[in-house]
Amino acid sequence: MTTADPRDALPIVEQPLADRWRRTIRYLRVSVTDRCNYRCAYCMPLEGWAPVERADLLSLEEIARVVRALAPHGVERVRVTGGEPLVRKGVVDLVGWLADTPGVREVAMTTNGHLLERFAGPLWSAGLRTLNVSVDTFDADRFAAVTRGGDLARVQAGLDAARAAGFEDIRINAVALRDVNDGDLAAAFVERCWAQGLLPRFIELMPVGGLPFQTDRHRVTTSDLLTALRRRYDLVSEGRPRGTMPRGPAAYWRVEGGAFAGRRVGLISPMSDDGFCAACNRARLTARGGLRACLANDDEVSILQTVRAGASDAALVALCRQAVEGKLEAHRMGAADIVPLTVMTGIGG
Ligand code: 5AD
Ligand code: SF4
Repeated sequence: MTTADPRDALPIVEQPLADRWRRTIRYLRVSVTDRCNYRCAYCMPLEGWAPVERADLLSLEEIARVVRALAPHGVERVRVTGGEPLVRKGVVDLVGWLADTPGVREVAMTTNGHLLERFAGPLWSAGLRTLNVSVDTFDADRFAAVTRGGDLARVQAGLDAARAAGFEDIRINAVALRDVNDGDLAAAFVERCWAQGLLPRFIELMPVGGLPFQTDRHRVTTSDLLTALRRRYDLVSEGRPRGTMPRGPAAYWRVEGGAFAGRRVGLISPMSDDGFCAACNRARLTARGGLRACLANDDEVSILQTVRAGASDAALVALCRQAVEGKLEAHRMGAADIVPLTVMTGIGG
């Protein structure tokens, strides 16, 4: 028998934030900083990049205020991202405020794990329950190379601390990269995750920021990975998870039989799945206070001045609605004529 999770009760929603394609926004990704202590080759340039001035960032109080205004309109799930969210001072307080926001049923975070050993306990106490840790490989040398200086041992200590603090739902997000986690390396990667009770997920490399690294030389599709994994495991598709909690775009596969029976792997296919955007329920609040309907479209509505001017919730929501209404039916990241976007960091990957 399954017991009902009280968080799965559908809340009463005032006029939801909906786009022209009748998708509703139930999942807000909040970038709290554009800074990062790593420099992943596919995400951040080594030079020629400067962080946004502090005064041009939403304060943590302002972020909490925006989420409080949006929650009655159906935003039930909030993910705190960056850059690297744990470099923003006070982020644990923000997590607490978000978790206490009526209507918000889940607060999640995406982190690179470098500071997690110190923050895992406080984050758990503040009400965080879902953690995504970005780790592209558990090979220390490859890890240092991709992150350009990242320290896998610290990230592993962070993962251990997170499990010790009580986190059960920890996903490991890997950008699918040739010679980093494809082929036999994919199996090594998922087994390393499974051995620690972590859920591995691969995401296809997206051309965000127009970095030189984002070429076909490094690109691997999720179907390439699936082929590699199927040589070792009997995988059955679970599709996208059901339930009332708004979920992200990962499709899951489960191992049938053998030593790894019941283990799962997630595949996130923004580039190869034509239907990727069809069920999109997400919007993004950028570190500098832009409401973005889509990661892959630089169009955004700035709400910073409006928040700062002490506007009413209704005025704020109206502005957010305007951003959401402009949401494209589908991203065009695969198109040949696509103009590269601003860097990923600060828009909430
Ligand atoms: N393509 C795909 N994923 C990316 N990330 C950063 N840049 C890219 C990109 N170009 C991922 C990180 C992390 C999350 C915040 O976004 O690895 O998991
Ligand atoms: Fe930092 Fe994540 Fe970007 Fe790597 S992918 S540079 S860890 S924000």
